Amino acid sequence: MKKNVLRLDKSEYERESLVSEVITGFEKPQKVLPCKLFYDKRGSALFDEICGLEEYYPTRTEVGIMKDNIDEICSYLGGSCLLVELGSGSSVKIRLLLENLRNLSGYVPIDISEEHLIESVKTLAADYPGLRIMPVYADYTQPLSLPRFDFPFSHTVFFYPGSTIGNFKPDSAARFLGRIAKHAGRGSGLLIGVDLVKDVKTLEDAYNDAKGVTAEFNLNILKRLNREIGTDFDLAKWRHKAFFNPRDSRIEMHLESVINQRVKVDSTSFRFRKDETILTEYSYKYRVEGFRELVSDHYSVERVWTDEDKKFSVQYLKAG
Ligand code: AVJ
Repeated sequence: MKKNVLRLDKSEYERESLVSEVITGFEKPQKVLPCKLFYDKRGSALFDEICGLEEYYPTRTEVGIMKDNIDEICSYLGGSCLLVELGSGSSVKIRLLLENLRNLSGYVPIDISEEHLIESVKTLAADYPGLRIMPVYADYTQPLSLPRFDFPFSHTVFFYPGSTIGNFKPDSAARFLGRIAKHAGRGSGLLIGVDLVKDVKTLEDAYNDAKGVTAEFNLNILKRLNREIGTDFDLAKWRHKAFFNPRDSRIEMHLESVINQRVKVDSTSFRFRKDETILTEYSYKYRVEGFRELVSDHYSVERVWTDEDKKFSVQYLKAG
């Protein structure tokens, strides 16, 4: 008989897992926090604001590429596909596809934020009454198990915009995309946004905007931890830091400790030296050729669309 099983309610369970994630990250030589923690309600709103900033070129460049090439993009995706979006949005990007694809069989938005998912599905359902939408509340970075769909579709196409793939280290990115290729099978597609290597100033400005929105976005992680797990971060003692690391071809975002200080996480106290940082995000920048090699075990790159200045790319990959 299972007698002494203690049950935590959902929110307590979530708190416990967040605490252990934070402690694990703070025990490393380079302290880290997972970048998915950015996206609470406030963080998601700040991210939307970042996407509209003058310095933040990726969003508007990607949308521009998609608009300029929408007919060709749709012809690569083909008719009667099941469109699966990793990290769903109510954004203009998915709408472009929904409006232009022929005989779209269904749309499967996957998102880690239940609130965000429900909101965007409601809006899309109202705007596209004929569309079959099957939202999946999941962390898509974990092994995927999608429900069986009992309607016909000719093939699956994953949509992964925004260069979110840049958050993974290259070897994890390759493994993650490989898992998706396996899941969807030979002949399935992946429409993916990939940010490209460019001059350092453009890159660094995009993560150090003049209005300080990115700084607030970064610092918001600490606010969230204070609220959700009762840490005692004093936000005045932390600074946003973002720079391009050319050796690894990535933007790194950190939170830098302004002074020597200690912070409590549950019953553990962590020491931070002055100028010590917590790594909060990687954003890898690729060359078209480098990305092709990265995915070559699982995909062939069928087509690469870019803007005039080659700032950003949208690519159609075929599995197999
Ligand atoms: C959503 C992960 C693609 O790396 O550019 C924006 C997130 N971080 N500004 C990026 C982000 C700081 C963004 N991704």
